[in-house]
Amino acid sequence: MSHAADHLTVVDHPLVQHKLTIMRDKGTPTAVFRQLLREISQLLAYEVTRGLPMTTKEIQTPMQTMSAPTLDGKKLALISILRAGNGLLDGVLELIPSARVGFVGLYRDEETLKPVQYYFKVPEALDDRLVIAVDPMLATGNSSVAAIDLLKEAGATNIRFLCLLAAPEGVARMREAHPDVPIVTAALDEKLNEVGYIVPGLGDAGDRMFGTK
Ligand code: URA
Repeated sequence: MSHAADHLTVVDHPLVQHKLTIMRDKGTPTAVFRQLLREISQLLAYEVTRGLPMTTKEIQTPMQTMSAPTLDGKKLALISILRAGNGLLDGVLELIPSARVGFVGLYRDEETLKPVQYYFKVPEALDDRLVIAVDPMLATGNSSVAAIDLLKEAGATNIRFLCLLAAPEGVARMREAHPDVPIVTAALDEKLNEVGYIVPGLGDAGDRMFGTK
């Protein structure tokens, strides 16, 4: 189950919400956090791939031939926004093993406060694929908007954005910059704090999944 308000879908499935609560708890250890992220990313992947184009192919069951549904079109592209995106990527890739994978690396210039690209490697023919950009935390939206700018420059025209938590500020920023990009998330939190963290949130997603703090 999920509910959608224009371009934002919050996946309110009980399993997603239960797992998210354990992930938010600051006492949850890194290994458990990472495992839950893998599980939740597969449940979110189910939602973000809803409505993929389908075709049929002729197959032979043990009983008879049938015209059976199968995914249509070019293999989709999963784009991880480094580094925390990798935590979401792993689970989604397990569910869609034939997907092509790309990476976008951005850091924040401390003087201009603008995102600067340090890595960009994406699959070919982005214009022919559904592109799913993944980043667990949609906070200010600055890096997500910049990453999607780059994907569009590289030719992508059909993009969806998958995250774990979103702040209203980030959703508004994305809606303004990229109204054509639907967002799927497990929760829409209250706000950003003064240093750009989502509250109540779960802290620094990268640190929590990689154990760097
Ligand atoms: N990035 C994070 O990892 N956590 C936040 O709360 C905001 C951005």
